[in-house]
Amino acid sequence: MLSIDHNQLSHPMLERLKRYFVLFILFLLSNQIAIAQEDVNYDEANIPNYSLPAILKTADGLPVESINEWKYIRRPEIIDMFAEHVYGELPRSFDSIEFRTIRENSNAIDGNGTAKEIDIIVTRNGNSLPIRLNLLISNKIQKPVPVTLLLNHRGPDNMDITRQIKQDFWPAETLIERGYAAAVFDVEDVADDDPETYTEDILSTLYPEQIDRPNGTQALSAWAWGAMRVMDYLETDDDIDQNKSILVGHSRGGKAALWAGANDERWAIVVANESGAVGAALSKRRFGETVKIINNGFPYWFTPNFEKFNDKEDALPFDQHMLISTIAPRGVYITAAEEDLWADPRGMYLSLLHASEVWKKIYGLSVPLYDRMPPINNPTDNPYAAYHIRNGEHDLKLYDWIQFLNFADRHFHINRSD
Ligand code: GCU
Repeated sequence: MLSIDHNQLSHPMLERLKRYFVLFILFLLSNQIAIAQEDVNYDEANIPNYSLPAILKTADGLPVESINEWKYIRRPEIIDMFAEHVYGELPRSFDSIEFRTIRENSNAIDGNGTAKEIDIIVTRNGNSLPIRLNLLISNKIQKPVPVTLLLNHRGPDNMDITRQIKQDFWPAETLIERGYAAAVFDVEDVADDDPETYTEDILSTLYPEQIDRPNGTQALSAWAWGAMRVMDYLETDDDIDQNKSILVGHSRGGKAALWAGANDERWAIVVANESGAVGAALSKRRFGETVKIINNGFPYWFTPNFEKFNDKEDALPFDQHMLISTIAPRGVYITAAEEDLWADPRGMYLSLLHASEVWKKIYGLSVPLYDRMPPINNPTDNPYAAYHIRNGEHDLKLYDWIQFLNFADRHFHINRSD
């Protein structure tokens, strides 16, 4: 048996041994990472055979043919499945909601706009929680105006109402110039984007009973709830045409935007920018980020029930095309970026293509989408269910926003030369 007398080991020898040990651990770790990366499929040829659950068939197997069957039977069935298995319940009840204008500056953006900062204060069982809404409206256009709301998960620099900090993530100047009010709130006002503290806002304050439920509200549902409360405010603002409202979310925010749009038909258009896994992308393709990877990385976004589908996408009784379909006949805009394979650009396109069945068959609208994806930087041009894939990386860019506004102009029949 090998025995080492530590006293016999010289200091340099010990150092060398230590170094070998560290190198050995690093080697093991890098192997682990390599294995994890290999596990992610980026090859169309390796997509398993899968079949998508039918959108237009009820849980009892009956065909869905009329608007009423869709609206009152199938659509609610689909939303219930997503609440039960994916995002968790979206709480509806509260005792009161109050809107407090904290500041109003009618000389914002060199006199071109009015900036409003509003606290939306929601109270339930004696506990209250404020959400801060930043809103910019052009001074040069007839009111009421259509509105865009961004669910912002990227901190204060991306929602600066003073416009000292300007980022393309929230290009307020462009939005108001195009005649759209620019609204934004920080999702962290309703639930932190953090596994340790996400329960500290609406969950512990307003809805503590949700925290331990297997289908309870988690962060994405909380963010969707926040967007609904902002809509409660927008309905009261005479400067806003709340019938022309566009909810925009990027990536994780895009997942929440789709879920908000499913639950709240007051949003006329829902934009999910590069929303990827458990947003617009089809889970059953297992391309890029999978159910297991996202559940492991971001367990606090989804309800505990969703873990049952780790590595079991085949067992899902739904897929994300069904979530998109709940937005019909309103407008939906799905985007991808060429380099963002993690979010599965084709999986998002196919999801929209399958969802478009509802616009076409139930509502009789023309949505010309085909199996072949539109080329890079060539947005589709129908006004109901749109898609683009932009060149470049994962982000929300000015290019994306401009396409959303073009789509909204088409959807709302706004002619900018009027
Ligand atoms: C991670 C996560 C994605 C998410 C993205 C984002 O990459 O895996 O699901 O969409 O973050 O929000 O930017």
